[in-house]
Amino acid sequence: MTPVLRSSGHLAADRRYDYARGAAAEGDHVAASDLLQQTLEIAPTWAPAWFALGESREELGETAAAAEAFAQALAHDPADSQGARLRLARLGAADQPAQPPQAYVRDLFDQYAARFETHLVKDLAYRAPSVLREAITRAAPARRFAQALDLGCGTGLMAKEMADLCDQIAGVDLAPAMAAKARASGVYAEVEAADLLDFLKGRAPAGADLVVAADVFVYCGALDAIFGAVRRVVKDQAIFAFTLQRGAEGDYRLGEDLRYAHTPAYVARLAASHGFALASCDEVSVRQDRGQPVPGLSVVLLAL
Ligand SMILES: C[S@@+](CC[C@H](N)C(=O)[O-])C[C@H]1O[C@@H](n2cnc3c(N)ncnc32)[C@H](O)[C@@H]1O
Repeated sequence: MTPVLRSSGHLAADRRYDYARGAAAEGDHVAASDLLQQTLEIAPTWAPAWFALGESREELGETAAAAEAFAQALAHDPADSQGARLRLARLGAADQPAQPPQAYVRDLFDQYAARFETHLVKDLAYRAPSVLREAITRAAPARRFAQALDLGCGTGLMAKEMADLCDQIAGVDLAPAMAAKARASGVYAEVEAADLLDFLKGRAPAGADLVVAADVFVYCGALDAIFGAVRRVVKDQAIFAFTLQRGAEGDYRLGEDLRYAHTPAYVARLAASHGFALASCDEVSVRQDRGQPVPGLSVVLLAL
């Protein structure tokens, strides 16, 4: 990710922080830790420096000290725009949160928006939209959709893929910069910059006949409330289609990549309890991580 422009309000602290980031980028985490401790002597409540110190200590294998630094980052930035809670969970120093911090996901994708399509599609072989379209048309051949909702619409790749089958598509994305790109694509009737659950809660019941979420639930953790909110806004026989990272056990788990993976059993249980039939659940990879296909699921549900 592109580093965020941050300032502690102290020139000397900012300078040391910048040097530390440079050292960390070159793999010199001993120098980075040292510079960050100097930074924190000048600006002791500055969360970005605590967070960066946590990262360098983690790289050095100093788990307990890293957890201490992430805990300080969280204490000084309770909205948690850097995701210290996720780092603490990954280190085993806290339980996994049921959702990632909203500020973290929003900032992540706001920073990412400008280069999202090039990076994801070209570098990470991203293909969730075409995989979902294929699964939807297999489950409902030749069907047209009057009102589609694109949850976590990003820049609009999923809507572009479905546009010829839909009369109207409404999108929602937590990151305003992503929502702006989606709006500019001209594919949507409307795009809201909001949390998808709030967006769903604000819609009239039984209006939509298609809901899609391509590579979004990896940033959502628990899906129970989302399934319930989707079922409320769709008509009977509507399609609810989404991709997931495939989990191996339990319901869902935060992975090393700081994304959530969900199990097919969890999806089947939620589908049954919220009034959906499982039309298909395919094992398919929709993106790569360090050149390797990430195990995934493409799921199509039918509202009963
Ligand atoms: C990997 S991108 C996928 C974007 C798009 N669906 C696509 O296929 O190109 C994930 C998107 O989900 C959005 N997102 C994550 N959690 C969200 C939430 N709770 N509410 C709304 N959008 C969310 C992110 O801001 C990001 O734009």
